[in-house]
Amino acid sequence: MSSRIPLPYSPKVLEIFRNPKNLGPLEDATVVESAGSPACGDMIRLYLKIVNVDGQDIIEKATFESYGCAANIAAASILTEMIKGKRLEDAWKISWKILSDELGGLPPIKYHCSILAVGALKRGIRAYYKKIGRHPDWLPKELTIEEKQVFEEEEMMERYYKSMKALGGIR
Ligand code: FES
Repeated sequence: MSSRIPLPYSPKVLEIFRNPKNLGPLEDATVVESAGSPACGDMIRLYLKIVNVDGQDIIEKATFESYGCAANIAAASILTEMIKGKRLEDAWKISWKILSDELGGLPPIKYHCSILAVGALKRGIRAYYKKIGRHPDWLPKELTIEEKQVFEEEEMMERYYKSMKALGGIR
């Protein structure tokens, strides 16, 4: 008999995990950004199609690929739903906590799944402005705490993966 205790996922996480929306690459994406670690497998890749309408930068389409757990898939899926049609300035304000609340809450051990999803979004927004060579006033010049958190998560994941590999737990 398994000694593993199932994680207390909210019904919404389970529902979205079973029926994710906007899954798969986007052919005509304007930017593609990832967050996570390809080495250990917890990763999200976000595809954004951004258009300028009447001077406003709008997310017309958003899709994702996930190589993470159920929470990662649910977070990425709901994020793509939340940002569709939004101005980049408004999408930028979505925090990992807002995302987690939208999912009915995540178990603390799964907070990083939501941090990665929002991290990929923020990287996508920065990549877009870098690509078009413009820096709007509302976009912080320096990395925010939330963006730095993503780097910390990525480093932590790499370290954990390497130590597990050294112990022979991963081949
Ligand atoms: S993406 Fe790492 S546990 Fe969910």
